[in-house]
Amino acid sequence: MTNLAPTDLTDQVVVISGGSRGIGRAAAQALAALGATVAIVGQNPENVAQTVAESVANDCDALGVVCDVSDPDQVARTIAANPVLANADILINSAGVMSDRTAKTLRTTPDEWQRVMGINLDGTFNMISAIGPAMQARRSGRIINLSACLGRFTGPGLAGGLAPYRISKAAVNALTKNLAAELGNGSRGVLVDAMCPNHTRTDMGGPDAPRSAEEAADTIVWLATREHTADIETGYLWEDRQIVPW
Ligand SMILES: NC(=O)c1ccc[n+]([C@@H]2O[C@H](COP(=O)([O-])OP(=O)(O)OC[C@H]3O[C@@H](n4cnc5c(N)ncnc54)[C@H](OP(=O)(O)O)[C@@H]3O)[C@@H](O)[C@H]2O)c1
Repeated sequence: MTNLAPTDLTDQVVVISGGSRGIGRAAAQALAALGATVAIVGQNPENVAQTVAESVANDCDALGVVCDVSDPDQVARTIAANPVLANADILINSAGVMSDRTAKTLRTTPDEWQRVMGINLDGTFNMISAIGPAMQARRSGRIINLSACLGRFTGPGLAGGLAPYRISKAAVNALTKNLAAELGNGSRGVLVDAMCPNHTRTDMGGPDAPRSAEEAADTIVWLATREHTADIETGYLWEDRQIVPW
């Protein structure tokens, strides 16, 4: 079992889907600054290359992975072809897209439903399927899934609208809870959690959102680095380092 201290990620490999922009990029940069090797996964080659170049320019260890997370064959092939990725210590699933703003349930087209579910939910499952089994075999690893307040069954999650997005994130929560239980809720070395970054200034969140990407990434970095003790709490939805109701 890996017991991480917050300041020492040397020899740790972190795979971050959606690491090329926004919150994933901020998390990748913070973890790379702590010594981790970060694998930046995105589907736009230019965005991936730019984020990798920035990390390398800061003396960090980074590699780029161009891959559409919604494509199960592409994800499986890409990860299997690189043992560094297949044996990652930490997987962060940040790749995501917002629904069309008018996408209430009865106005959502099948194509829009599939697009959002394909990236937000299937993409998370595809990455976990490619990297999780090695974590389970090693009895060591961390999986952090980016959820959203809009996907909760409480508070802001109850307002309706943005149907594919909300429902994809509610499903990511369910995936998280289910997988955590299947892996013994931390007792067998693998931690699985979801986190809500809150409204954040990114391409998705827009320029007027109250939080910076670095603030949003704080809980991701904390989940990725907190010490793994016998009584650790895992299999939860986190916000600002606190457990919140699903
Ligand atoms: N921003 C917010 O206010 C907010 C609030 C709550 C939750 N979240 C969640 O936080 C996560 C990150 O959001 P963000 O604001 O950082 O979004 P963002 O700035 O729009 O970045 C999205 C990232 O996802 C990647 N991506 C999208 N589709 C992909 C695909 N098919 N395959 C691989 N990568 C793909 C993008 O890569 P490319 O560069 O290749 O396109 C990009 O790196 C998302 O899951 C989002 O739902 C965000």
